[in-house]
Amino acid sequence: MIKEKLDSLEKEAKNCTNCALCKTRTNVVFCDGTLGAKIMFIGEAPGDNEDKTGIPFVGRAGKLLRQYLDETGFKKEDFYIANTIKCRPPKNRKPTKEEKCACESYLKRQIELINPSVIVLVGATALESFIEDKKLTITKARGRIFDIENKKFIPIFHPSYLLRQHSLEINSPRWLFKKDLEMIKSLVEKSC
Ligand code: URA
Repeated sequence: MIKEKLDSLEKEAKNCTNCALCKTRTNVVFCDGTLGAKIMFIGEAPGDNEDKTGIPFVGRAGKLLRQYLDETGFKKEDFYIANTIKCRPPKNRKPTKEEKCACESYLKRQIELINPSVIVLVGATALESFIEDKKLTITKARGRIFDIENKKFIPIFHPSYLLRQHSLEINSPRWLFKKDLEMIKSLVEKSC
């Protein structure tokens, strides 16, 4: 039943013309992951590789995220990945308010159907879409747990930021990223 509903939502998204990105996209990037996953990762928007393949987080940043997930012990069946918007903004610019609005209902319905207990907000765009506090930067918010409507929302750095940060020292962005993923993993295990 849920699978049919998700399939039909994906079909709807694939035919979407709610905003101008439908004219420049190659593929609608709907999701990658497992039905029944307790944890959902929400990124910003598809990039070039995602647009070409139709799969989220498969470019350089995506590979880095997946490598960290693997190293932390997450299995593919543990998570579901989607983005705030489903079509690539030209030149990888940030999604506009209008594009986010046009896409909002797909993400909302995806969350309802997957019904994860933990939602990881990957980067500032995802953070801003769920937590309305202009003063709350990703640096301040990362690693914190926000309880909203019976779900735990946890912001983390975006992996594209980590591509420019190479240090592994204590308190470096990569070190914090790993700590955040470890905390999320143990949180999900406790809630099962
Ligand atoms: N960055 C994102 O936020 N999402 C993707 O799917 C790829 C890169």
